[in-house]
Amino acid sequence: MKFFVDTAELNEIEELYALGLVDGVTTNPSLILKSGQDLQTVMKAICALVPGPVSVEVKATNYVDIMKEALFLTGFAPNICIKLPMTLDGLKACKTLTDAGHQTNVTLCFSANQALLAAKAGATFVSPFIGRLDDLAIDGMTLIGEIRTIFDNYDFKTQILAASIRTVNHVKDAALIGADVATIPPKILKTLVTHPLTDKGLEIFNADWAKSGQKIL
Ligand code: E4P
Repeated sequence: MKFFVDTAELNEIEELYALGLVDGVTTNPSLILKSGQDLQTVMKAICALVPGPVSVEVKATNYVDIMKEALFLTGFAPNICIKLPMTLDGLKACKTLTDAGHQTNVTLCFSANQALLAAKAGATFVSPFIGRLDDLAIDGMTLIGEIRTIFDNYDFKTQILAASIRTVNHVKDAALIGADVATIPPKILKTLVTHPLTDKGLEIFNADWAKSGQKIL
């Protein structure tokens, strides 16, 4: 499973990339706002740091303007992935951009039929939003499973990018069901390493080592 980091905070991406945990990055307008950074500056900096796909979202809603924005954004770096809305205009732009060799990510996916359309349009990634479905008491992970089955039935190459991840269990369950990628907020990514028994075990080993009076170096 690939890990993308879901943030536009460069320092957080740097820290996780140094750990070998970042295969790509996703951003959205809310994350750009939160970063307080200029879009072009921050996206170019992220693309220079992380060689994998870096998603940046178009703001336009009609095909012609989506394409203008998308072609401008693809000029930022070769690893830019254009994030497109799950609309008919977004899907049309997805097909045009994919046919031209660009990476695409159809976002705000909340149903298996929407994912099917993204695959038909040739999307590189489709982003089902798990957490936002869970917020409505609809099981987001069921959607990931449905999309996995459909894509496997027809050998679609579009990658399932589990998004809107809110818990460590979202990451585990998405991996078990077979999502190709999880885009994870930095705080959750770092929490994956923690376990109370790991902490307790280290505490005991450290105490016993101190009692032994020995040194490794
Ligand atoms: C994915 O690409 C989105 O940026 C993100 O996962 C949205 O998450 P949220 O629902 O927590 O805002």
